[in-house]
Amino acid sequence: MADELKRGLEGVLVAESDLSYVDGEVGKLVYRGYDIEDLARGASYEEVLYLLWHGSLPTAAELDSFAADLAAEREVNDDVIETVRALADADERPMAALRTATSMLSAYDPDGESDDGESALRQGRRITAKIPTVLAAFERVRQGEEPVAPDPDLSHAGNFLYMLTGTEPDAVSEETFDMALTLHADHGLNASTFTAMVIGSTMADVYSGVTGGIGALSGPLHGGANQDVMEVLHEIDASSKDPVQWVKDVRADGGRIPGFGHRVYKVKDPRAKILEEKLRDLSESSGDTKWLDYTTAIEEYLTDQGLVEKGIAPNVDFYSGSVYDSLGIPVDMYTPIFAMSRVGGWIAHVAEYQEDNRLIRPRARYTGPEDAEFIPLDER
Ligand SMILES: CC(C)(COP(=O)(O)OP(=O)(O)OC[C@H]1O[C@@H](n2cnc3c(N)ncnc32)[C@H](O)[C@@H]1OP(=O)(O)O)[C@@H](O)C(=O)NCCC(=O)NCCS
Repeated sequence: MADELKRGLEGVLVAESDLSYVDGEVGKLVYRGYDIEDLARGASYEEVLYLLWHGSLPTAAELDSFAADLAAEREVNDDVIETVRALADADERPMAALRTATSMLSAYDPDGESDDGESALRQGRRITAKIPTVLAAFERVRQGEEPVAPDPDLSHAGNFLYMLTGTEPDAVSEETFDMALTLHADHGLNASTFTAMVIGSTMADVYSGVTGGIGALSGPLHGGANQDVMEVLHEIDASSKDPVQWVKDVRADGGRIPGFGHRVYKVKDPRAKILEEKLRDLSESSGDTKWLDYTTAIEEYLTDQGLVEKGIAPNVDFYSGSVYDSLGIPVDMYTPIFAMSRVGGWIAHVAEYQEDNRLIRPRARYTGPEDAEFIPLDER
Protein backbone atom coordinates (compact mmCIF):
# COMPACT_ATOMS: atom_id res chain seq x y z
CA MET A 1 0.00 0.00 0.00
CA ALA A 2 2.91 2.32 0.72
CA ASP A 3 3.57 2.60 -3.00
CA GLU A 4 -0.05 3.25 -4.03
CA LEU A 5 -0.18 6.30 -6.26
CA LYS A 6 -2.98 8.78 -5.51
CA ARG A 7 -3.21 11.19 -8.43
CA GLY A 8 -3.80 14.71 -7.18
CA LEU A 9 -3.31 13.36 -3.62
CA GLU A 10 -7.03 12.56 -3.64
CA GLY A 11 -8.14 11.34 -0.23
CA VAL A 12 -4.59 11.22 1.17
CA LEU A 13 -4.31 12.24 4.82
CA VAL A 14 -1.23 14.36 5.43
CA ALA A 15 -1.92 16.12 8.73
CA GLU A 16 -4.24 16.44 11.70
CA SER A 17 -6.09 19.72 12.03
CA ASP A 18 -8.60 21.24 14.46
CA LEU A 19 -9.53 23.99 12.01
CA SER A 20 -12.18 22.90 9.54
CA TYR A 21 -13.97 19.76 8.46
CA VAL A 22 -15.65 19.14 5.14
CA ASP A 23 -18.09 16.25 4.80
CA GLY A 24 -18.47 15.92 1.06
CA GLU A 25 -21.09 13.19 1.23
CA VAL A 26 -23.71 15.14 3.17
CA GLY A 27 -22.53 18.65 2.27
CA LYS A 28 -21.37 19.91 5.63
CA LEU A 29 -18.65 22.38 6.54
CA VAL A 30 -17.58 23.26 10.07
CA TYR A 31 -14.92 25.59 11.46
CA ARG A 32 -13.69 24.26 14.82
CA GLY A 33 -16.96 22.39 15.30
CA TYR A 34 -19.29 25.27 14.39
CA ASP A 35 -21.57 24.75 11.40
CA ILE A 36 -20.81 27.17 8.56
CA GLU A 37 -24.47 28.13 8.39
CA ASP A 38 -24.47 29.34 12.02
CA LEU A 39 -21.24 31.25 11.48
CA ALA A 40 -22.32 32.78 8.18
CA ARG A 41 -25.56 34.03 9.68
CA GLY A 42 -24.40 34.83 13.21
CA ALA A 43 -20.70 35.72 13.26
CA SER A 44 -18.63 38.48 11.66
CA TYR A 45 -15.49 37.72 9.65
CA GLU A 46 -13.45 39.14 12.56
CA GLU A 47 -15.07 36.60 14.92
CA VAL A 48 -14.27 33.83 12.46
CA LEU A 49 -10.64 34.95 12.23
CA TYR A 50 -10.41 34.93 16.01
CA LEU A 51 -11.95 31.45 16.09
CA LEU A 52 -9.51 30.11 13.51
CA TRP A 53 -6.42 31.75 14.95
CA HIS A 54 -7.12 31.49 18.68
CA GLY A 55 -9.25 28.37 19.00
CA SER A 56 -12.54 29.70 20.38
CA LEU A 57 -15.17 32.30 19.61
CA PRO A 58 -14.23 35.62 21.24
CA THR A 59 -16.11 37.29 24.07
CA ALA A 60 -17.35 40.82 23.28
CA ALA A 61 -14.27 42.33 24.98
CA GLU A 62 -11.88 39.97 23.17
CA LEU A 63 -13.53 40.79 19.85
CA ASP A 64 -13.29 44.54 20.46
CA SER A 65 -9.61 44.38 21.12
CA PHE A 66 -8.93 41.87 18.30
CA ALA A 67 -10.88 43.93 15.76
CA ALA A 68 -9.13 47.14 16.87
CA ASP A 69 -5.69 45.49 16.55
CA LEU A 70 -6.60 44.24 13.08
CA ALA A 71 -7.98 47.62 11.98
CA ALA A 72 -4.84 49.37 13.27
CA GLU A 73 -2.75 47.40 10.76
CA ARG A 74 -4.66 48.39 7.61
CA GLU A 75 -2.38 51.09 6.27
CA VAL A 76 0.36 50.05 3.88
CA ASN A 77 3.69 51.71 3.18
CA ASP A 78 3.66 54.35 0.41
CA ASP A 79 6.19 52.33 -1.56
CA VAL A 80 3.71 49.45 -1.73
CA ILE A 81 1.06 51.82 -3.09
CA GLU A 82 3.58 53.07 -5.67
CA THR A 83 4.21 49.46 -6.70
CA VAL A 84 0.47 48.89 -6.93
CA ARG A 85 0.26 51.92 -9.25
CA ALA A 86 3.05 50.52 -11.42
CA LEU A 87 1.30 47.14 -11.59
CA ALA A 88 -1.99 48.76 -12.57
CA ASP A 89 -0.19 50.85 -15.23
CA ALA A 90 1.34 47.65 -16.61
CA ASP A 91 -2.16 46.13 -16.85
CA GLU A 92 -1.19 43.36 -14.45
CA ARG A 93 -3.95 40.86 -13.61
CA PRO A 94 -5.40 41.48 -10.15
CA MET A 95 -4.31 38.15 -8.61
CA ALA A 96 -0.78 38.59 -9.94
CA ALA A 97 -0.73 42.17 -8.62
CA LEU A 98 -1.90 40.93 -5.23
CA ARG A 99 0.77 38.23 -5.23
CA THR A 100 3.53 40.76 -5.95
CA ALA A 101 2.30 43.36 -3.46
CA THR A 102 1.79 40.78 -0.69
CA SER A 103 5.33 39.57 -1.11
CA MET A 104 6.56 43.16 -0.90
CA LEU A 105 4.67 43.80 2.36
CA SER A 106 7.20 41.68 4.24
CA ALA A 107 9.86 44.36 3.72
CA TYR A 108 7.93 46.63 6.11
CA ASP A 109 7.02 44.05 8.77
CA PRO A 110 8.60 44.99 12.11
CA ASP A 111 8.82 41.33 13.16
CA GLY A 112 11.35 40.51 10.45
CA GLU A 113 11.73 36.78 10.00
CA SER A 114 9.10 34.98 12.10
CA ASP A 115 10.52 32.28 14.30
CA ASP A 116 7.64 31.28 16.55
CA GLY A 117 3.87 30.78 16.43
CA GLU A 118 3.18 34.15 18.07
CA SER A 119 5.12 36.15 15.51
CA ALA A 120 3.58 34.08 12.70
CA LEU A 121 0.13 35.13 13.93
CA ARG A 122 1.21 38.77 14.35
CA GLN A 123 2.52 38.80 10.80
CA GLY A 124 -0.61 37.00 9.65
CA ARG A 125 -2.75 39.71 11.25
CA ARG A 126 -0.81 42.38 9.38
CA ILE A 127 -1.13 40.57 6.05
CA THR A 128 -4.86 39.99 6.56
CA ALA A 129 -5.40 43.65 7.48
CA LYS A 130 -3.36 44.99 4.53
CA ILE A 131 -4.57 42.79 1.67
CA PRO A 132 -7.91 44.68 1.36
CA THR A 133 -6.01 47.99 1.26
CA VAL A 134 -3.77 46.72 -1.53
CA LEU A 135 -6.70 45.33 -3.51
CA ALA A 136 -8.89 48.40 -3.19
CA ALA A 137 -5.97 50.67 -4.14
CA PHE A 138 -5.22 48.54 -7.21
CA GLU A 139 -8.81 48.67 -8.35
CA ARG A 140 -9.12 52.43 -7.83
CA VAL A 141 -5.87 53.21 -9.62
CA ARG A 142 -6.99 51.01 -12.53
CA GLN A 143 -10.15 53.10 -12.72
CA GLY A 144 -8.12 56.33 -12.75
CA GLU A 145 -9.07 57.18 -9.15
CA GLU A 146 -6.89 57.87 -6.13
CA PRO A 147 -6.69 55.19 -3.42
CA VAL A 148 -8.91 55.77 -0.37
CA ALA A 149 -7.22 55.50 3.04
CA PRO A 150 -8.64 52.81 5.34
CA ASP A 151 -11.07 53.81 8.07
CA PRO A 152 -10.24 52.04 11.35
CA ASP A 153 -13.78 52.60 12.63
CA LEU A 154 -15.32 50.35 9.99
CA SER A 155 -15.52 46.54 10.00
CA HIS A 156 -13.17 44.48 7.84
CA ALA A 157 -15.94 43.98 5.26
CA GLY A 158 -17.32 47.52 5.47
CA ASN A 159 -13.89 49.12 5.23
CA PHE A 160 -13.04 47.19 2.06
CA LEU A 161 -16.22 48.32 0.32
CA TYR A 162 -15.54 51.85 1.54
CA MET A 163 -11.97 51.84 0.18
CA LEU A 164 -13.23 50.41 -3.11
CA THR A 165 -15.98 52.94 -3.72
CA GLY A 166 -15.07 55.91 -1.52
CA THR A 167 -18.52 55.71 0.09
CA GLU A 168 -19.53 53.94 3.28
CA PRO A 169 -21.56 50.87 2.33
CA ASP A 170 -25.16 50.39 3.40
CA ALA A 171 -25.90 47.77 6.05
CA VAL A 172 -27.15 45.13 3.58
CA SER A 173 -24.03 45.38 1.40
CA GLU A 174 -21.71 45.24 4.41
CA GLU A 175 -23.53 42.27 5.90
CA THR A 176 -23.62 40.44 2.55
CA PHE A 177 -19.92 40.93 1.95
CA ASP A 178 -19.07 39.96 5.52
CA MET A 179 -21.04 36.73 5.02
CA ALA A 180 -19.12 35.98 1.82
CA LEU A 181 -15.83 36.48 3.69
CA THR A 182 -16.92 34.08 6.42
CA LEU A 183 -18.00 31.45 3.88
CA HIS A 184 -14.60 31.48 2.14
CA ALA A 185 -12.35 31.72 5.21
CA ASP A 186 -11.31 28.07 5.46
CA HIS A 187 -11.94 24.79 3.72
CA GLY A 188 -9.69 21.96 4.85
CA LEU A 189 -6.59 21.21 2.81
CA ASN A 190 -7.66 22.78 -0.47
CA ALA A 191 -4.90 23.41 -3.02
CA SER A 192 -3.94 26.92 -1.87
CA THR A 193 -4.00 26.04 1.83
CA PHE A 194 -1.87 22.99 1.17
CA THR A 195 0.52 25.16 -0.86
CA ALA A 196 0.86 27.55 2.08
CA MET A 197 1.39 24.59 4.43
CA VAL A 198 4.07 23.04 2.23
CA ILE A 199 5.91 26.36 2.22
CA GLY A 200 5.33 26.78 5.97
CA SER A 201 6.66 23.25 6.60
CA THR A 202 10.10 24.43 5.45
CA MET A 203 9.80 26.99 8.29
CA ALA A 204 9.78 29.77 5.69
CA ASP A 205 7.93 32.90 6.84
CA VAL A 206 4.19 33.50 6.62
CA TYR A 207 4.59 35.98 3.75
CA SER A 208 6.09 33.22 1.62
CA GLY A 209 3.22 30.87 2.46
CA VAL A 210 0.54 33.48 1.72
CA THR A 211 2.23 34.55 -1.51
CA GLY A 212 2.31 30.90 -2.63
CA GLY A 213 -1.32 30.46 -1.57
CA ILE A 214 -2.34 33.42 -3.74
CA GLY A 215 -0.58 31.84 -6.72
CA ALA A 216 -2.36 28.52 -6.19
CA LEU A 217 -5.74 30.18 -5.71
CA SER A 218 -5.44 32.10 -8.97
CA GLY A 219 -5.91 28.99 -11.13
CA PRO A 220 -9.26 28.29 -12.85
CA LEU A 221 -9.56 24.87 -11.19
CA HIS A 222 -9.49 26.57 -7.78
CA GLY A 223 -10.36 30.20 -6.98
CA GLY A 224 -10.52 31.36 -10.59
CA ALA A 225 -13.83 29.54 -11.13
CA ASN A 226 -15.99 32.33 -9.61
CA GLN A 227 -14.77 34.73 -12.29
CA ASP A 228 -15.39 32.10 -14.98
CA VAL A 229 -18.99 31.66 -13.82
CA MET A 230 -19.71 35.37 -14.00
CA GLU A 231 -18.08 35.67 -17.42
CA VAL A 232 -20.37 32.89 -18.62
CA LEU A 233 -23.43 34.67 -17.23
CA HIS A 234 -22.35 37.91 -18.94
CA GLU A 235 -21.73 36.03 -22.19
CA ILE A 236 -25.20 34.48 -22.02
CA ASP A 237 -26.68 37.89 -21.35
CA ALA A 238 -24.77 39.68 -24.11
CA SER A 239 -25.65 37.07 -26.72
CA SER A 240 -29.27 36.72 -25.48
CA LYS A 241 -28.61 32.99 -25.54
CA ASP A 242 -30.79 30.61 -23.57
CA PRO A 243 -28.66 29.57 -20.56
CA VAL A 244 -29.68 25.94 -21.05
CA GLN A 245 -28.56 26.09 -24.68
CA TRP A 246 -25.23 27.50 -23.54
CA VAL A 247 -24.78 24.51 -21.21
CA LYS A 248 -25.79 22.08 -23.96
CA ASP A 249 -23.19 23.59 -26.31
CA VAL A 250 -20.42 23.39 -23.71
CA ARG A 251 -21.32 19.78 -22.88
CA ALA A 252 -21.48 18.87 -26.59
CA ASP A 253 -17.89 20.18 -26.92
CA GLY A 254 -16.84 18.11 -23.89
CA GLY A 255 -16.27 21.27 -21.83
CA ARG A 256 -16.75 21.76 -18.11
CA ILE A 257 -19.35 23.92 -16.47
CA PRO A 258 -17.59 26.40 -14.17
CA GLY A 259 -18.99 26.42 -10.65
CA PHE A 260 -19.90 22.72 -10.82
CA GLY A 261 -17.97 19.80 -9.39
CA HIS A 262 -15.67 19.57 -6.43
CA ARG A 263 -12.92 17.28 -5.26
CA VAL A 264 -14.61 16.72 -1.89
CA TYR A 265 -18.31 17.61 -2.22
CA LYS A 266 -20.41 15.03 -3.98
CA VAL A 267 -23.60 16.95 -3.20
CA LYS A 268 -24.40 20.66 -3.35
CA ASP A 269 -21.80 22.71 -1.48
CA PRO A 270 -23.37 24.12 1.73
CA ARG A 271 -21.78 27.49 0.95
CA ALA A 272 -23.51 27.50 -2.44
CA LYS A 273 -26.85 26.96 -0.68
CA ILE A 274 -26.29 29.95 1.62
CA LEU A 275 -25.15 32.20 -1.23
CA GLU A 276 -28.04 31.09 -3.42
CA GLU A 277 -30.44 32.12 -0.69
CA LYS A 278 -28.62 35.44 -0.34
CA LEU A 279 -28.81 35.99 -4.09
CA ARG A 280 -32.54 35.26 -3.97
CA ASP A 281 -33.04 37.87 -1.21
CA LEU A 282 -30.94 40.48 -3.03
CA SER A 283 -32.62 39.84 -6.39
CA GLU A 284 -36.08 40.03 -4.90
CA SER A 285 -35.39 43.27 -3.07
CA SER A 286 -33.75 44.91 -6.12
CA GLY A 287 -36.28 43.48 -8.58
CA ASP A 288 -33.41 42.36 -10.85
CA THR A 289 -33.54 38.57 -11.02
CA LYS A 290 -31.46 38.07 -14.17
CA TRP A 291 -28.47 36.25 -12.64
CA LEU A 292 -30.73 34.25 -10.37
CA ASP A 293 -32.84 33.19 -13.36
CA TYR A 294 -29.79 32.08 -15.37
CA THR A 295 -28.11 30.19 -12.54
CA THR A 296 -31.37 28.50 -11.55
CA ALA A 297 -32.02 27.44 -15.15
CA ILE A 298 -28.50 25.97 -15.45
CA GLU A 299 -28.72 24.15 -12.13
CA GLU A 300 -32.19 22.75 -12.91
CA TYR A 301 -31.08 21.52 -16.32
CA LEU A 302 -27.93 19.83 -14.98
CA THR A 303 -29.96 18.27 -12.18
CA ASP A 304 -32.45 16.89 -14.74
CA GLN A 305 -29.51 15.57 -16.76
CA GLY A 306 -28.35 13.55 -13.73
CA LEU A 307 -25.07 15.46 -13.37
CA VAL A 308 -25.79 16.52 -9.81
CA GLU A 309 -26.74 12.97 -8.88
CA LYS A 310 -23.37 11.87 -10.29
CA GLY A 311 -21.72 14.17 -7.76
CA ILE A 312 -21.05 17.14 -10.04
CA ALA A 313 -23.06 19.67 -8.09
CA PRO A 314 -22.93 23.47 -7.68
CA ASN A 315 -19.94 24.64 -5.66
CA VAL A 316 -19.41 27.93 -3.81
CA ASP A 317 -18.28 29.69 -6.99
CA PHE A 318 -21.54 29.10 -8.80
CA TYR A 319 -23.36 31.74 -6.76
CA SER A 320 -20.65 33.98 -5.28
CA GLY A 321 -20.10 35.97 -8.49
CA SER A 322 -23.75 36.96 -8.79
CA VAL A 323 -23.71 38.12 -5.17
CA TYR A 324 -20.54 40.20 -5.75
CA ASP A 325 -22.12 41.66 -8.88
CA SER A 326 -24.99 42.94 -6.76
CA LEU A 327 -22.38 44.76 -4.64
CA GLY A 328 -20.92 46.41 -7.76
CA ILE A 329 -17.60 44.54 -7.52
CA PRO A 330 -15.82 44.09 -10.88
CA VAL A 331 -15.59 40.51 -12.17
CA ASP A 332 -11.81 40.20 -12.14
CA MET A 333 -11.75 41.17 -8.46
CA TYR A 334 -13.75 38.08 -7.44
CA THR A 335 -10.77 35.78 -7.04
CA PRO A 336 -8.73 38.43 -5.18
CA ILE A 337 -11.69 38.79 -2.82
CA PHE A 338 -11.58 35.04 -2.28
CA ALA A 339 -7.89 35.47 -1.35
CA MET A 340 -8.78 38.34 0.98
CA SER A 341 -10.93 35.90 2.94
CA ARG A 342 -8.97 32.64 2.58
CA VAL A 343 -5.82 34.32 3.89
CA GLY A 344 -7.34 33.75 7.36
CA GLY A 345 -7.36 29.99 6.75
CA TRP A 346 -3.88 29.92 5.20
CA ILE A 347 -2.40 31.62 8.25
CA ALA A 348 -4.31 29.41 10.69
CA HIS A 349 -3.11 26.24 8.93
CA VAL A 350 0.51 27.40 8.66
CA ALA A 351 0.59 28.35 12.36
CA GLU A 352 -1.14 25.11 13.40
CA TYR A 353 1.15 22.93 11.29
CA GLN A 354 4.32 24.68 12.43
CA GLU A 355 3.42 23.93 16.07
CA ASP A 356 4.29 20.30 15.41
CA ASN A 357 6.17 20.71 12.17
CA ARG A 358 7.46 18.02 9.86
CA LEU A 359 8.82 18.96 6.44
CA ILE A 360 6.28 18.00 3.75
CA ARG A 361 8.16 16.04 1.14
CA PRO A 362 6.30 13.37 -0.87
CA ARG A 363 7.83 11.54 -3.80
CA ALA A 364 6.95 10.58 -7.35
CA ARG A 365 7.07 7.12 -8.88
CA TYR A 366 9.94 7.34 -11.30
CA THR A 367 8.89 6.38 -14.83
CA GLY A 368 11.88 7.77 -16.74
CA PRO A 369 14.56 5.74 -18.52
CA GLU A 370 17.13 3.69 -16.63
CA ASP A 371 20.83 3.32 -17.25
CA ALA A 372 20.99 6.03 -19.92
CA GLU A 373 24.49 6.30 -21.33
CA PHE A 374 25.92 9.78 -20.83
CA ILE A 375 27.35 11.34 -24.00
CA PRO A 376 29.52 14.43 -23.51
CA LEU A 377 28.18 17.64 -25.05
CA ASP A 378 30.72 17.82 -27.90
CA GLU A 379 29.83 14.27 -28.99
CA ARG A 380 26.03 14.73 -28.97
C1 LIG B 1 -13.25 21.27 -9.15
C2 LIG B 1 -12.74 20.19 -10.07
C3 LIG B 1 -11.36 20.60 -10.60
C4 LIG B 1 -12.62 18.88 -9.30
O1 LIG B 1 -12.01 18.00 -10.13
P1 LIG B 1 -11.52 16.52 -9.77
O2 LIG B 1 -11.89 16.14 -8.39
O3 LIG B 1 -10.09 16.46 -10.13
O4 LIG B 1 -12.43 15.68 -10.71
P2 LIG B 1 -12.10 15.32 -12.20
O5 LIG B 1 -11.49 16.47 -12.93
O6 LIG B 1 -11.32 14.03 -12.17
O7 LIG B 1 -13.58 15.05 -12.77
C5 LIG B 1 -14.29 13.86 -12.53
C6 LIG B 1 -15.33 13.69 -13.62
O8 LIG B 1 -16.33 14.70 -13.46
C7 LIG B 1 -16.42 15.50 -14.65
N1 LIG B 1 -16.56 16.90 -14.21
C8 LIG B 1 -15.99 17.47 -13.13
N2 LIG B 1 -16.35 18.77 -13.05
C9 LIG B 1 -17.15 19.00 -14.10
C10 LIG B 1 -17.82 20.17 -14.55
N3 LIG B 1 -17.69 21.33 -13.91
N4 LIG B 1 -18.56 20.09 -15.67
C11 LIG B 1 -18.67 18.92 -16.34
N5 LIG B 1 -18.06 17.78 -15.96
C12 LIG B 1 -17.31 17.82 -14.85
C13 LIG B 1 -15.08 15.30 -15.34
O9 LIG B 1 -15.18 15.54 -16.74
C14 LIG B 1 -14.79 13.87 -15.03
O10 LIG B 1 -15.56 13.06 -15.87
P3 LIG B 1 -14.94 11.70 -16.49
O11 LIG B 1 -14.63 10.85 -15.31
O12 LIG B 1 -16.06 11.20 -17.35
O13 LIG B 1 -13.73 12.13 -17.24
C15 LIG B 1 -13.71 20.01 -11.26
O14 LIG B 1 -14.98 19.61 -10.80
C16 LIG B 1 -13.81 21.23 -12.15
O15 LIG B 1 -12.99 21.45 -13.04
N6 LIG B 1 -14.87 22.10 -11.91
C17 LIG B 1 -15.04 23.32 -12.65
C18 LIG B 1 -14.17 24.39 -12.05
C19 LIG B 1 -14.68 24.83 -10.69
O16 LIG B 1 -15.84 25.14 -10.52
N7 LIG B 1 -13.74 24.91 -9.72
C20 LIG B 1 -14.04 25.44 -8.39
C21 LIG B 1 -14.00 24.37 -7.34
S1 LIG B 1 -14.48 25.04 -5.77
